[in-house]
Amino acid sequence: MEFLIYHRTDEMPPRPIAIGSDHAGYRLKEVIKEFLLAMGYNCVDFGVDGECSVDYPDYGIKVSEAISKGEFERGILICGTGLGMSIVANKFPGVRATLCHDLYTARMSRLHNDSNILVLGGRVLEEDLACQMVRVWIETPFEGGRHESRLRKIRAIEERLNGV
Ligand code: RB5
Repeated sequence: MEFLIYHRTDEMPPRPIAIGSDHAGYRLKEVIKEFLLAMGYNCVDFGVDGECSVDYPDYGIKVSEAISKGEFERGILICGTGLGMSIVANKFPGVRATLCHDLYTARMSRLHNDSNILVLGGRVLEEDLACQMVRVWIETPFEGGRHESRLRKIRAIEERLNGV
């Protein structure tokens, strides 16, 4: 697939993005890795390394834990539908994993939810659309304002349930 090369103008080098998938998300993961590289982003691949059947929680845990511990700011998770990875990722304190289906949800997940894990369905999305969603998700800032207090309420749930 041919990609447009985006030239970043920021002085700071972009922080690497954690990425992971199960077998059903493997192909899209490889496409997105190339796309990220073309955009000037590094990514760290937490697997899986092929299309043999695996259990999505094993890979969802790796990326989500890295985000939860603050080792990475942002991550991308892909399974067949995106549903399983979403369920796994949102168990982790501090993770705001958003399953997105189009450019609108990718953009809103940043503006309103300060999403730190983008979840995609490898069996649902066309590759081109998925790449454009990744671009929008990376480039869109959190809007803050009234959304800050909503995120504080989510944090309070985590503190109450997990003692974190
Ligand atoms: C694997 O067949 C599939 O169940 C998985 O990729 C995901 O869609 C689960 O939610």
